Amino acid sequence: MNVQKLIETAKILVADYKGLLAMDESNPTCNKRFAKLGIPQTEEARRAYRELIVTTPSLGNYISGAILYDETIRQQKQDGTSFIKILSDAGIITGIKLDIGAKDMAGHPEEKITEGLDGLRDRLKEYVQMGARFAKWRAVITIGDRIPSRGCIEANAQALARYAALCQEVGLVPIVEPEVLMDGEHTIERCYQVTEEALHTVFNHLYTQQVMLEGMILKPNMVLSGLTCSEQASLDEVANATVNCLLRNVPAAVSGIAFLSGGQSSELASARLNAINLRFKSPWALTFSFGRAIHQPALEIWQGKEANVSKAQQALLHRAKCNWAARQGEYKAAMAGTGV
Ligand code: 13P
Repeated sequence: MNVQKLIETAKILVADYKGLLAMDESNPTCNKRFAKLGIPQTEEARRAYRELIVTTPSLGNYISGAILYDETIRQQKQDGTSFIKILSDAGIITGIKLDIGAKDMAGHPEEKITEGLDGLRDRLKEYVQMGARFAKWRAVITIGDRIPSRGCIEANAQALARYAALCQEVGLVPIVEPEVLMDGEHTIERCYQVTEEALHTVFNHLYTQQVMLEGMILKPNMVLSGLTCSEQASLDEVANATVNCLLRNVPAAVSGIAFLSGGQSSELASARLNAINLRFKSPWALTFSFGRAIHQPALEIWQGKEANVSKAQQALLHRAKCNWAARQGEYKAAMAGTGV
């Protein structure tokens, strides 16, 4: 394990107020989003959309790393230039999603376990050769009646830790993502309780598997009221709950924390990230690793049409810039809209 290289990569990923762009939806997820907008669900449409994203002018001013999916890391621009080269020329580090999805968990109705550990060491070698320098694994924790169970949290935390150890062995910075879903009627207090248990368990397993904390990035959910909870927490309440939960459960040695957006609107995700950075000085860089909150508006403008590419790219760059501003506590709702 090259300790210095891991630490250096982790630090670059969260430096200069930049954040990560998650563009690693699996083909089925990407197809579902395309279907909603009437975009053809073909490999070529997915490639064209990914090309739109990676060729967005000036993207590297706000984005330090992009997380790709297995199909995407092998794809090229229409002129044959690989996406990896385009990203690298833009100063953006390539990352790769390594899990193969959250599957139904045996003996645990309505809960998921993330798979992908079998054969992972061999898959890693190929991605490193291709130029990836960091990776992602997402565990999914659902809040509901009597769930999450201890069994679900433990099994997912152990898988995250085993994945992270394998990544560090070959010099890839692992992004460790235990996502507590925002779906449900639960209160923000319940989200806090579950997020705390998940983080505590994950760091216990990271310690047991000897993962070097300085060479990883945590990707947590923000602590939020459930999507259909009748009482929605304010910006300040979300910022307080989120940062307190992190302060109590995440060692200061971790190089960076990059939030997922998890289905929040683009504006709310930026406003909450802003409140978090405005109100607290924390031991870690607190940044973003958003997917939908950065590129969903662009997808809706694009609609699969070449004529809309430039407008869609402007919208995408705008969201990236909003989140870069939010890291500095300088995001204003007035920045909303698509102008850059
Ligand atoms: P969202 O920001 O759309 O939740 O995606 C982030 C991600 O990488 C989920 O694994």
